[in-house]
Amino acid sequence: MSSEVTIKNSEEIELIKSSCNLVSLTLALLGQYIAPGITTQRLDSIAEEFIRDHGAIPAFKNYKPDKDHVPYPCTICTSINEEVVHGIPSAKVVLKEGDIVSIDCGVVWKGYYGDAAYTFAVGEIDSQKEKLLQVTLQALYVGISCAKEGARIGDVSSAIQQHVENHGFSVVREMMGHGIGKNLHEPPEIPNFGKRGCGMVLQAGMILAIEPMVNMGRPAIKKKKDGWTIVALDSLPSAHYEHTILVTKDKAQILTNFDYIQTYYGKTIFDTC
Ligand code: MF3
Ligand code: CO
Repeated sequence: MSSEVTIKNSEEIELIKSSCNLVSLTLALLGQYIAPGITTQRLDSIAEEFIRDHGAIPAFKNYKPDKDHVPYPCTICTSINEEVVHGIPSAKVVLKEGDIVSIDCGVVWKGYYGDAAYTFAVGEIDSQKEKLLQVTLQALYVGISCAKEGARIGDVSSAIQQHVENHGFSVVREMMGHGIGKNLHEPPEIPNFGKRGCGMVLQAGMILAIEPMVNMGRPAIKKKKDGWTIVALDSLPSAHYEHTILVTKDKAQILTNFDYIQTYYGKTIFDTC
């Protein structure tokens, strides 16, 4: 991460909005295919083709955050059940009834990034998983509602943490939301836990990816031998939602959206694939 937090100008914001729109459409396209029997590799190739057909670049492919990571090999992350984030799509991984799967997707359009994630139910899921998805999605919006000019990062972080813990779940500590723009990950970091009134003051024109990762059980995680996949140490399910947002004077403007997903999930709207 470079050290400076950047304030985006209106041209940059427009480009990031386009990236975010393509990410949102990609997630909705994948939502049509999510069903028992599909492999996560198939979802990955559908996403890659769709993004490239729109003249954009998959942001995660070959991404190498630091020297400890091998480059990320795919277009999307597919994290099933106890997998928290950064699950790698594979021809060997088949979705089954009752799974939850977080699909995380980023694109670059004219040099600017957009990033979003949504956790889908595969067929019917049990009521505890249903509650986990609901609480995690609510936590995302509760956090976003705090992200306005003059607020502090700790206001967002603590709102997310409080919401999650009030419902008996836990937030992952090691991974966080982030600034985004010319890079996938820019400062500042946005933890999903913290204290009200602490941390950096938010300014209008900051663009942030807010992404609560919520575990049904304990917060502890570990990384699998593939070098990427993060799993809950206690092997209980985990959920993840992410939006890219713009901080403005009196509120956050959400640049990615789940409306396409929520309108079209399970229905065919695209005939490209
Ligand atoms: N939304 C995720 C993040 O911000 C996606 C990163 S996947 C990676 O960490 F491969 F690009 F690292
Ligand atoms: Co992100």
